[in-house]
Amino acid sequence: MKKTLIKKGAEADIYLTNWNNEKAIYKKREPKEYRNLILDIKLRKHRTIREAGIMHDVKLFGIHAPLVYFVDTKKTSILMQYIEGNLVKDLPDRKLVKICKEIGRIVGRMHKSGVMHGDLTTSNFIIQKDIIFLIDFGLSSRTRKIEDHAIDLRLFKEVLNSAHTAIMEQGWTNFLQGYKSIVGVARKNQVFSYVSIIEQRGRYATVV
Ligand SMILES: Nc1ncnc2c1ncn2[C@@H]1O[C@H](COP(=O)(O)OP(=O)(O)O)[C@@H](O)[C@H]1O
Ligand SMILES: [Mg+2]
Repeated sequence: MKKTLIKKGAEADIYLTNWNNEKAIYKKREPKEYRNLILDIKLRKHRTIREAGIMHDVKLFGIHAPLVYFVDTKKTSILMQYIEGNLVKDLPDRKLVKICKEIGRIVGRMHKSGVMHGDLTTSNFIIQKDIIFLIDFGLSSRTRKIEDHAIDLRLFKEVLNSAHTAIMEQGWTNFLQGYKSIVGVARKNQVFSYVSIIEQRGRYATVV
């Protein structure tokens, strides 16, 4: 199988390859030398299975994510569908600000179904025509805790703040509106309040 490295990540390496004459992505977790050998194998295997499992599960909740073609627990790799399109990160502000509402709905649907993503950056959404795909479930987990869901929201807000400053406020408002439309006003307020708690903690930590 011919493959071209496209990204070396902290968690995994991403390759572009082919599968049944279709473009595909091969995501492989390499051994980490600093970890105990047995623990390292266990950890990579566990994370690979969890990532592929959640990537599949979210489709049942109406979220677009790459198809899982093959999971190799020995090589700790996942072969998945290549999603043709643009990263939401690279969209012009005018488009991005609108899309934040749909992103809010996607995240709402995921949370409502008991999954947190764990790495909600604008590099992990791909827009294909008018369909938004969510990728990179490497840090996701099954949880219904308000605190965990708030971590997702907090990260997305932080990304808007640092990478999309010009549309930060409107983007965040739109995101929350989309999120609320799925999880309901009461839950949205609970999670949102927790975002403020996390932010206060952050501020306190920098003062000390
Ligand atoms: N299924 C996919 N289809 C198209 N591009 C992908 C796919 N998976 C990953 N990529 C590209 O590779 C980049 C890194 O992959 P990702 O799974 O997000 O790993 P990382 O943990 O390094 O962020 C993405 O931002 C995207 O550009
Ligand atoms: Mg990523």
